[in-house]
Amino acid sequence: MKHLFQKGTDPNKPVLLLLHGTGGTEQDLLPLAEKIDGAASVLSVRGNVLENGMPRFFARLAEGVFDEEDLIFRTKELYDFLGEASEKYAFDRKNIVAIGYSNGANIAGSLLFHYKDSLKGAILHHPMVPRRGIDLPDLTGTEVFIGAGTNDPMCPAAESEELKKLLEEARANVGLHWENYGHQLTYGEVEAAAAWYKKHF
Ligand code: MLT
Repeated sequence: MKHLFQKGTDPNKPVLLLLHGTGGTEQDLLPLAEKIDGAASVLSVRGNVLENGMPRFFARLAEGVFDEEDLIFRTKELYDFLGEASEKYAFDRKNIVAIGYSNGANIAGSLLFHYKDSLKGAILHHPMVPRRGIDLPDLTGTEVFIGAGTNDPMCPAAESEELKKLLEEARANVGLHWENYGHQLTYGEVEAAAAWYKKHF
């Protein structure tokens, strides 16, 4: 997968896995990584799917309607890539914290839904429920921050609550932070994510 890797100054910090929103690139979330943990290594990936020229991490049939078969395929592709990247860049595969926005948060959520130990933690900005009707792996010890919108047109508040509940039923530790700016990623939300990260990592 197209990506960039920046080695951090502290090898004991988690590797921050950056996953952009629809139409983004691996450059987009670099300022977020700096804000969350300036000493951590960064692995920033570009989605392999193109929708009218816009990179995404998996295909969708319509806005908010996922192509489930492609979601499963792309989730495995990313999961395998993380294993390869950890060998290539010599970092601890078990110490990855994802930071994703929108489509990137959805593929991060999908990693958690499909694979045990795929991520040590995840900061999900405006995620949706990636899949329904499946058994989640045991997520004991996994720390998750959800940044949600009370008025997010892509993800109703009830779906944010549902995601929290599904992850908690799988024994993840979940913090849910509310904003009031639709689907936008605001500075306040990033600040809240940074404070949450400091507490947990
Ligand atoms: C998605 O397809 O992941 C969601 O619709 C979010 C988005 O990409 O805007």
